[in-house]
Parts: sequence; C-alpha cells; structure tokens
Amino acid sequence: MAAAYEYETHDYDVVVIGAGGAGLRATLGMAEQGLRTACVTKVFPTRSHTVAAQGGIAASLGNMGPDNWQWHMFDTVKGSDWLGDTDAMEYLAREAPKAVYELEHYGVPFSRTEEGKIYQRPFGGHTTEFGEGPPVQRTCAAADRTGHAILHTLYGQSLKNNAEFYIEYFAIDLIMSEDGQCQGVVCWKLDDGTMHIFNAKMVVLATGGYGRAYFSATSAHTCTGDGGGMVARAGLALQDMEFVQFHPTGIYGSGCLITEGARGEGGYLTNSEGERFMERYAPTYKDLAPRDYVSRSMTMEIREGRGVGAEGDHIHLNLAHLPPEALAERLPGISESAKIFAGVDVTKEPIPVLPTVHYNMGGIPTNYWGEVLNPNAKDQNAVVPGLMAVGEAGCASVHGANRLGSNSLIDLVVFGRAAAIKAGKVVDADAPNPVLNQASIDKAFDRFDGLRNASGAIKTAELRLEMQKTMQADAAVFRTDKTLKEGVEKMTAIAGKMGDLQVTDRSLVWNSDLMETLELANLMPNAMATIVGAEARKESRGAHAHEDYPKRDDKDWRVHTVAHVDGNKVTLSHRDVVKEPLSTEAEGGISLKTIAPKARTF
Ligand code: FUM
Repeated sequence: MAAAYEYETHDYDVVVIGAGGAGLRATLGMAEQGLRTACVTKVFPTRSHTVAAQGGIAASLGNMGPDNWQWHMFDTVKGSDWLGDTDAMEYLAREAPKAVYELEHYGVPFSRTEEGKIYQRPFGGHTTEFGEGPPVQRTCAAADRTGHAILHTLYGQSLKNNAEFYIEYFAIDLIMSEDGQCQGVVCWKLDDGTMHIFNAKMVVLATGGYGRAYFSATSAHTCTGDGGGMVARAGLALQDMEFVQFHPTGIYGSGCLITEGARGEGGYLTNSEGERFMERYAPTYKDLAPRDYVSRSMTMEIREGRGVGAEGDHIHLNLAHLPPEALAERLPGISESAKIFAGVDVTKEPIPVLPTVHYNMGGIPTNYWGEVLNPNAKDQNAVVPGLMAVGEAGCASVHGANRLGSNSLIDLVVFGRAAAIKAGKVVDADAPNPVLNQASIDKAFDRFDGLRNASGAIKTAELRLEMQKTMQADAAVFRTDKTLKEGVEKMTAIAGKMGDLQVTDRSLVWNSDLMETLELANLMPNAMATIVGAEARKESRGAHAHEDYPKRDDKDWRVHTVAHVDGNKVTLSHRDVVKEPLSTEAEGGISLKTIAPKARTF
C-alpha cells in the first residue's frame, strides 16, 4: 500500500522548478505571455546560486571595440573543444546581445563606460578575428556582482508580471504519465511539512548544477543536482556528465570564487619563483586562456614543485599592481572575499588560489528551445512532452567539453527566454490540465517515506563526505585509467550504501536531516554518471584531461555521452553532436570551414 500523505493540488500552465537566473528568466517570459506560471524554489529566489556569479555575461555588444556574434560563436565552438551542438552555439551567440539589452531595459544596473554604454571586460577564450586577433572585451559586468544584479531584477520583474512563487518547497519527483509525458511535480513544503502536487502542462527544470558532489566547489551547498536526480528516476538520461569545470581561482582552503574578471582587469598568476607561468603555456592569451587550460597549467606547476605556500600546493593571483581605485570600482566583491576567506589585502598581497570545481557542462539533454530530449526514442531529436530543462541543469549543449567564462550567465538568460518563447507556442492556455497518473504520485511519496524512515547504519553526512572525497580524488583535473577505474569501483560501493542510510529526525517541519538525504539521493546519480562517463571516454577533450589518452579523438569520440542511471548502475550510450549551424554563410552565418575541428591552442 502506498505511503499515506495528504496533499493540496495546484493547477498551472507552467511550473518552473528553481529560481536562479534561468528559472527566473523562464518564469518571467512565461508570465509576460499570460501563461499561468508558478515558480517553485527550495531557497528564497534571490538566494539562488546565480547570486554568486561575479564577473559578467558574454554578449558581442562591441561597446569597447569591434566584435560580432560570429566571433563569439567561433570562440564558443573552440572553447567547447568541438563537442558543443553547433545550432545551439549559434543561437546563443546570435541572441546574446538582444537578451542583454532586455536585461538592461528590465533594470539591471550594469557598470558603465564614460559614454554611458554597458561596460565590458575581457574574459578567458573570448577573442577577435575567429581566434586570430587579440582578446576582446565581451563580458558585460555589474562590477563583480553581475549575478546578484540580474537575479534581483528578474525576481522583481517576475512579480510585476504576476508569476506566483512557492518558496522553500522541495521538489521530490516528477509526475510522469504511463506514456512518458511529464504532468507535474510532487513537492514538500519545508516550513510546515505539508505536501503539494503541481499539475502543469509544462514543467521547466532550472535546478542548477551538482557541484556539491565534490569536496571543494565554488557552488553553494544547495547545488545538489535535483533536476538530474528527478530525471534519472523518471527513466530519462543525463548527457556529457564527465565534463566538470575547475575554475582556476577558488580561494585556497575555502574554495570561494575569485572571478576571472580579476585577470580580465589585469591580474596575473605566479608560481613559487614569481614567474608568470601562463606565458609558457598559452603564449598568445596567457592568463586569459580558457579555464580548462589555465587550471591544467596551474596543476602542472604545483606537480612540478613550483606551487606556493608552506606545502607548495597552490598558486598566487596578483592584483596589487592594479590601481586601488580600479579594484574598488571593478572588483569590490572579491576584494572583500579575499580579506574574509584568505586574510589578504589585495592592494598589497597576492591571493592564494587553487583550481576548484565550478560548473557542470553536462546535464539534462535538450534542444536549443530547452525541450528535454527523449533518450529512449529512435529519433535522437524526439522530445519528452511537457518537460524542459534550462541553465546549468540542462545541456543544450552550448558548452560541450569546456565552458568559456561568462557564457554561463548568457546561457541562463538566452535559454530561459527561449524556453518561454517555445512554451508560448506549445502550451495551450485554454486546454485542460493533464489527468494525473496516481501511480507516479504514489511512487514519489513511497520514496520520500522510505528516506524519512530510513533506519540503516550510515549517517547522510558521512556518506556524502565519502562521495565528495572520492569524486575530488578520482575525477579530478587530470585523470588516468587507474584513478578512474578505482573511482568507479569506490563510487559503485558508495552509491550502493544509499539503502543503509540513517535519518534520525522523522518530523516534516524544517527537517534538514531529511532534506539533505533527499539532496544526497539527487547528487548520487549525477556523481555516478560523471565518473562512469569519465572512465569510458578514452581521449582528452576540454575539461576531461586523460593522461593515458592525451589527444582529442574526433573520429571515435566527437559524440555526446548519454547516461541512464539506476541506483548504482550506469548504462552508457551516445548521441551525435549537431555539426550544422542554424544559418548558412549566404545568410550571414559562419562557414563550416571556419568552425572545422583543429588543434586548440592559445
Ligand atoms: O569568474 C567568474 O566570474 C565566473 C564566471 C563564470 O563562471 O561564467
């Protein structure tokens, strides 16, 4: 018999799960079109992890020198190490300026140039002349608090457009019909313990990444891959999960982010010999090479004995040569973080930094309208009716094997907006809501009840730590057959212990023990797909640096990894990379020759 929980049902046209940049941009776009839209979020919207995004949002506005969307697209293709879907990468680069001007008109307080235009700074891997020219200033910034500015603006605009918010509700599971349509979501209201069913014609997963599968991450503690967990349990798939981005400059010890904008404004890295070593690894773009490149170079310096500090295990980021007024105007947030988390006055001393997990390129596979792809269909373009995924939770795939800095905020708003445009076409506001599949609801409550009453031997925090340490050690910046094989074995055993968890608090009100257990149940399939996907990929590409296969292999491996996860078992298959752009050269698009794969040097 199913676990007995009473619940309240809410009917909407659209339910968005998550209130970060992508979730709020989707919510706003849906509500603006008159769709009855609910946004369900486990934290207050302006506390979502987008609030921590610092350096800026990429768009070829050309405010600080020549730029165009074709150059932005080329850089994104090259940055992705030719694993991104070309149609989605064109859509991103082409729509970016429109999406940023919309943000400006909604009220985002961007920093300004002398002439009053949006200020743009250089970021890694963003160049001119299809990678042949100097770095470009493409990253639009609100000092070093760009995500904060965007999030507050989008929340205000969503309220103005009558979107309804369900705050501190935890999404337990998707409600799926017998024939595979998404019909809504089962939620737990954290502050009073009541249960809620959201019945919707379209569910949009905007739940963010799963950085907390690792021990040291710039991600908030809330980044637990909840969307990926729900999708895996619904029998759908995750894509390209082996590609995990390490940001070069997490503060040593705490992992707190120091924006790439710091190097964009003229900061540079040095080793124990005081050498600006990036000049050796990336002679042209130096400290402004893409993140995978810089993180690997830092790791090599440390491995070869040129790390700084008593244990020689980190690197210095130097800003003290920059004018104090520039630091105060352009980088006030990280100046404060450096003081609080490293005890460093950036006007006088270098910041101790280390590559730290920052972003998941993989996620729930979608087309560039945010519609979730059905991995169980013969046609690789078939979609799951009623289900979208946007932002870091999704994989459109615009970042492929490596994301360029500041392409995340633009991904959030371009694809949040695209999902709303598509929903405006496919959601019929006059149609009745779907008749809910009771078996799917019962299954969700049974799982919830099982975890609530879990009386095994292992505490959630202990198992989570085992997972985090294993992922950190075995799916790291550099990987080998040996570490990955061991990692898969260890993670299989760790995920196998989920049935032996112990939850001590059985209440339903503010039960953080239970919530963290539900989060661990979401992290685990994400982590499993990551390590198994990494073990299987016998090449090096983007963030996946495999020491036994140091070269990229376009013949066998220019394919997306598709992972079905069931408990501690992962089944892998592949999906073709979309190689054709949306527009032809005659239509103003980029030629296939220009974006043909080649060696990725900087
Ligand atoms: O370095 C940063 O400010 C982070 C930006 C990003 O991940 O896009």
